[in-house]
Amino acid sequence: MFKVHPVDPKRMPALLRAMPKAELHMHIEGSLEPELMFAMAKRNGVTLPYASVQDLRNAYVFDNLQSFLDIYHAGTLVLKTEEDFYDLACAYLARAQADNVVHAELFFDTQTHTDHGLSSATVINGLHRACVDAPQKFGMTASLILCFLRHLSEEDAFECLEDILPLREKIVGIGLASSELGHPPEKFAKVFAKARQLGFRLVAHAGEEGPPAYIWSALDILKVERIDHGVQATRDTALMQRLAQDKISLTVCPFSNVKLRVFNTLADHTLGQMMDAGLCVTINSDDPAYFGGYVGDNYVQTAQALRLTTQQAYTLAHNSLHAAFVSDATKQQWTHQLKACFESFVEHDY
Ligand code: ADE
Ligand code: ZN
Repeated sequence: MFKVHPVDPKRMPALLRAMPKAELHMHIEGSLEPELMFAMAKRNGVTLPYASVQDLRNAYVFDNLQSFLDIYHAGTLVLKTEEDFYDLACAYLARAQADNVVHAELFFDTQTHTDHGLSSATVINGLHRACVDAPQKFGMTASLILCFLRHLSEEDAFECLEDILPLREKIVGIGLASSELGHPPEKFAKVFAKARQLGFRLVAHAGEEGPPAYIWSALDILKVERIDHGVQATRDTALMQRLAQDKISLTVCPFSNVKLRVFNTLADHTLGQMMDAGLCVTINSDDPAYFGGYVGDNYVQTAQALRLTTQQAYTLAHNSLHAAFVSDATKQQWTHQLKACFESFVEHDY
């Protein structure tokens, strides 16, 4: 790993924001800010059960993943047209650009929206158009990962996969999200095998609230390349060794873990411990409109709370670029940019 010069702690927030990074775990529906939710509700004639933006924000207090998912699901009801999905993705990409995200992989699902009477094409075409426009509009690249909803059946996931096949070229990967406990990865063994056959890259949420066994089965049964969250891995020494040995990337979301009560505070987060064990950890925002900040805020506050070093900051950004679903040539180019960024922060004595 490239050796970096330590920077003055006062300059760490600026470095953490400036360094080129990839965001690999964010649900586009979770970036729907209350202001945009109200604007979309108005233009689509939807009545929200909240009197104001502030009233809505005040409801964002969660006990666990499920209590969040219930509110998050209600928010998706304002999304009706291809334009809504395009606007939603553009709003996120603008925030990502401000944090020097050079590449984002956007999670989305179609099952929530088809259940509300929308077509999967409405969702995918709107989001994909934003990804196509991202280089010219936001100076970055973006791609799409379709998540199956794990509280629904495997049969439902198969139906969803079949439904999106005509738009297959617009989607880079398949993931697994929603209520984790009671819905282990192996429930989706067959549909993930089919997605693998079709050439999709594979990821899954595992070990957010669920036990280490769910991480094992995401790796061994679903054969995913990255684990989303994975923070429960620290409870299983053999699993920690496996993740380190096989260089499995973990898309960790510190604000999310505190908001959903996986850890009491950022200072209690095990991200540093996971890095020390040699795991390929990345930092991400998950659902930034609900959890109090975008990816840059996650980096800055986590680094402060855990007293991360300049070297660890470099490793986190490098891990994110390395774990992206892009070509090796692109990763190499980003690595040069990353090194140049760190060198620009070195204070010379002349
Ligand atoms: N969908 C949106 N955010 C999620 C999370 N943190 N875990 C599982 N499913 C989600
Ligand atoms: Zn997530």
